[in-house]
Amino acid sequence: MDMRDVNTFLCILLEFLWTLLKSNYEVIKAMIRVIFPPEPKSVKGDVVLISGTAHGIGREMALRYARLGATVVCVDINAIGNQETLIMIKQEKGNAFKYECDVTNRSAVMQLAETVSKEVGDVTVLVNNAGIMPCKPLLDQTEKEIRLMNDLNVNAYLWMIQAFLPSMIRRNYGHIVSISSMAGIMGFKNLVPYCGSKHAVRGIMDALAVELRNDKRDLSGIKLTTVFPSMVNTGLCHKPRIRFEKLLKLVEPGDAADAIISAMRRDLNEVTIPQDLHYANRYVYRLLPIEAARLWTDFFDAGVDAHDD
Ligand SMILES: NC(=O)c1ccc[n+]([C@@H]2O[C@H](COP(=O)([O-])OP(=O)(O)OC[C@H]3O[C@@H](n4cnc5c(N)ncnc54)[C@H](O)[C@@H]3O)[C@@H](O)[C@H]2O)c1
Repeated sequence: MDMRDVNTFLCILLEFLWTLLKSNYEVIKAMIRVIFPPEPKSVKGDVVLISGTAHGIGREMALRYARLGATVVCVDINAIGNQETLIMIKQEKGNAFKYECDVTNRSAVMQLAETVSKEVGDVTVLVNNAGIMPCKPLLDQTEKEIRLMNDLNVNAYLWMIQAFLPSMIRRNYGHIVSISSMAGIMGFKNLVPYCGSKHAVRGIMDALAVELRNDKRDLSGIKLTTVFPSMVNTGLCHKPRIRFEKLLKLVEPGDAADAIISAMRRDLNEVTIPQDLHYANRYVYRLLPIEAARLWTDFFDAGVDAHDD
């Protein structure tokens, strides 16, 4: 070993020790955050754009963000349901706009971003929520169903981020929330393409966080939250199957919306709904060997049965 090698070795050793120290600091910070959760940030004055606001969790989030004083931009392919959501917000004296848009259509999404920027202002909170869930064995799913699901559950999330991230970058301010699912963490029968799409959402958000962090510009003002709901009572799960109903209830869409907004306002990277599943998700399922994890999945026997519509 010559002098240069010794120097390089010492530099790497120092960097390793420094990283170890900082990572321990982050672990302690995370533990403190569990005991003393951060105060929720205000969304007053934010422009919150949500996809899929005509129904379900999207509608409930729109109502709640408006109550918190945000300007809400409701986006959905279903004009009638979206109009109902707008009326509900206006009846509560909230501030909202509505746009009919098929978010799988990239040029429509880019046009939407231009229109919203002119008519409402820069979007500061983007909530990627619209999604569909065909439930049947993989071999019964048609090409059309699978392509549409990936276009909506995956590609549309990317188009929306491409459309609304640039203004967040210009201001170094913003928040992107994406709805994945427990199906984005583990596999379920009758949901093979859906699980793939929700794992993709998780991957997109993880990779986006790394990309923003490695950007030369300071983009620390842009926060990301990925949401992993279990089964929510919106009708999306036509035939939910729950063995221990007292333990694992269908979550009401309003409760899911509350949990998502609370996590976003506390800048949490991820949230599992219901929250008691957080530990099952993070520490049991992800740390156990896969065969052991599957035994627990069999025992709890939660999932969806196949249906045709
Ligand atoms: N409901 C559940 O059990 C559950 C569980 C985990 C995750 N999720 C996820 O939560 C999100 C919301 O689910 P939900 O149960 O509220 O669904 P929902 O069916 O109640 O609402 C979905 C909304 O998306 C809209 N939409 C559909 N296609 C669209 C398109 N091309 N462009 C724009 N809007 C479109 C629909 O019109 C509808 O208003 C989805 O991403 C879903 O995968 C739901």
